[in-house]
Amino acid sequence: MSGRPVVVVTRRLPEPVQQALTQAFDARLNPDDRPLTTDALRAALQQADALLTTVTDKVTADVLAVEPRRAGLVANFGVGFNNIDIEAAKARGVAVSNTPDVLTDATADLAITLLLMVARRTGEGERHLRGGQWAGWRPTHMLGTHVTGKTLGLVGMGRIARAVAQRAHHGFGMKIIFHDPYPPSADVAASLGAEPRATLEEVLREADFVSLHCPATPETRHLMNRERFGLMRPDAFLVNTARGDVVDEAALVEALQAARIAGAGLDVYEKEPQVTQALVSMDNVVLLPHLGSATHETRVAMGMRAVENLQRFFAGQPLRDRVV
Ligand code: DGY
Repeated sequence: MSGRPVVVVTRRLPEPVQQALTQAFDARLNPDDRPLTTDALRAALQQADALLTTVTDKVTADVLAVEPRRAGLVANFGVGFNNIDIEAAKARGVAVSNTPDVLTDATADLAITLLLMVARRTGEGERHLRGGQWAGWRPTHMLGTHVTGKTLGLVGMGRIARAVAQRAHHGFGMKIIFHDPYPPSADVAASLGAEPRATLEEVLREADFVSLHCPATPETRHLMNRERFGLMRPDAFLVNTARGDVVDEAALVEALQAARIAGAGLDVYEKEPQVTQALVSMDNVVLLPHLGSATHETRVAMGMRAVENLQRFFAGQPLRDRVV
């Protein structure tokens, strides 16, 4: 490679990250922040030595099949990488990295935010007040669900779920139950007050709040389907800060409409940025626009982690966060 490596950066990133990219590489930034089309992604793979992508870039098998391809690394800005066809990347010898760890706390904070919002009807309350409908305090006005001491069921027990358990157990005195095919050690679980359950179904039957923390893979697609919503308690709430694909959104709407569950707090959706209209009209649903990692500190840290992966790649060193 002659000169500085060319890196196509698909979205606008926080300024300190853009500065670091410009210093280290021949970085092709996206100041207008327009998502790249499929053709532009293909062209980027042909023109650049690496791509810095985000969740909005669909790096499919078809995109990766472009010939001749120059790029050897797709450094994804995010811990999730379901926007990239990992098998196709592996088959074509394209390395993929992600940005774990640095967004754990921000995402856990947001899961707790959603849990509290949906339980205490805060979105609804704000709309009520701003809409000029508040007639004053009264003992029976807008009663929500108590959170302290309730049971939180975690689906998946990786880094983010553990950080949620830490907050919920030590902050809100919640009982934590979880199901994960690869559970943490008994010591780690005990430090979070968390009890394993042998099946997902047991978690769903027992929990007052179910929070999803599994990756989006072909196996977890529509993990929360009609049957599984049917197992949840009618007074239980769903929280999703993982990925929209994990929930069958039509089945969720059906469960909410039939009052088979009490409500939902969602940060992610099946067809982002589209959100099923029925959800938008429901007062017992809190909807956020994929804000899990959206703090200044976290987004800078994610960017710097992607920069580190790029630097290691071009220095011929092992990637810090290799996915494939
Ligand atoms: C993540 O890191 O997975 C966030 O949801 C942004 O993609």
